[in-house]
Amino acid sequence: MTILLLGKNGQLGWELQRTLAPMAPLKAIDFEELDLQDFEAVRKTVRNLRPDVIVNASAYTAVDLAESESEKAFAINATIPGILAEEALGLGASLIHYSTDYVFDGLKGSLYREEDTTNPLSVYGKSKLAGEKNIGAVGCSHLILRTSWVYSLRRGSFVTKTLEWARRQEKMRVVNDQVGNPTWARMLAEVTALLLAQGTRSIRENSGVYHLAGSGFASRLDWAKQILELDPNRQEQVVKEILPALTSDFPTPATRPLFSALDCARFTNTFHLALPDWQKALQLAMG
Ligand SMILES: NC(=O)c1ccc[n+]([C@@H]2O[C@H](COP(=O)([O-])OP(=O)(O)OC[C@H]3O[C@@H](n4cnc5c(N)ncnc54)[C@H](OP(=O)(O)O)[C@@H]3O)[C@@H](O)[C@H]2O)c1
Repeated sequence: MTILLLGKNGQLGWELQRTLAPMAPLKAIDFEELDLQDFEAVRKTVRNLRPDVIVNASAYTAVDLAESESEKAFAINATIPGILAEEALGLGASLIHYSTDYVFDGLKGSLYREEDTTNPLSVYGKSKLAGEKNIGAVGCSHLILRTSWVYSLRRGSFVTKTLEWARRQEKMRVVNDQVGNPTWARMLAEVTALLLAQGTRSIRENSGVYHLAGSGFASRLDWAKQILELDPNRQEQVVKEILPALTSDFPTPATRPLFSALDCARFTNTFHLALPDWQKALQLAMG
C-alpha cells in the first residue's frame, strides 16, 4: 500500500505525517510542492504517484476570509475533493477526506447525526458540503470524516490563542453560546491510521460520510477554562477573570452554527474505534 497525503503542514496533516509514515511508503506534500488551485497539476501528481490511498488533509480553513474569497474556498474545498475522487476512481484507490460540523446550521438542539439535514451558514461550510457531494457523486471508495473544532499545539489554534490571551489580559471574555466537540489533531490522525490498518477493503465496503470528533461536547467558554486549568506554565498567566460572552458580542464576517456537536456512533459501530472524551484528550495534548 502507498499513501499520498495532501496538506502535510496543516494541523491535521502534520500529525498524519507522523502516524502514517510507519505504515506504508508515504508521499506527503503541501503548498510548496503543489498549489491546489492548479487542477491539472493535481491530476498529474496523483497519476504519477499512483497511490493506493489518498488522504486529503488540505483545505481552505480561513472561515471568515472565505466570505470574501469564495472562489478560492470552493476551488480547494469543493473542486479539489471531486478531482481527487475522480483520480482515485481511475486508479482503483481509496480517498480519505475530512469535512466539518459547519455543514449544519446548529439549530437542531441536540447532537447531529450523519443523516441530519445540512444547511451551512457560511461560504466555508457551503464549500465543504459541496466537496462532500462532489466525492459522493464520483462514487470512488471513500470515507468522508466530518470533524469539529480541531486543535493542535503546533499551529495557531483556539488552544494556542487562549494561552496567549491569558498571558496578555487580566479579563477574558469567551463565548458561551457556541458548542462543539474539541478534537485533538493528533488523535484524529491516530484514528485515521488505525482505520487504514483495517485495510482498503473496509473503506470500500463502508464508503460514506461519518462523524468523527472528540467525545462529549463543550462551549468555547468551558473549553477555554479547561485549557487554562491544564496549562503546564500557569504561573505565566495574568488573567484573573474569565467571563461569558455571546457570539453576537463579537461580530464576524462568517456566521457560525451555535450547537454543532456531532454524534459519532455510526463511526464507532462501523469501525470499532472512537476518539476519547475531549477533556482527556486535552489533558494528554497539554501534558
Ligand atoms: N480547524 C478546525 O477547527 C476544523 C474543524 C472541522 C473540520 N476541519 C477540517 O479538518 C481538515 C484539517 O483541518 P486543519 O485544521 O488541519 O487545516 P489547516 O491547519 O488549515 O491545514 C490545511 C492545509 O491545507 C493547505 N492548503 C490550503 N490551501 C492550499 C493550496 N491552495 N494549495 C496547497 N495546499 C493548500 C494549507 O497549506 P498552508 O499551510 O501553506 O496554508 C495547510 O497545510 C480540513 O478538511 C478542515 O476543513 C477543521
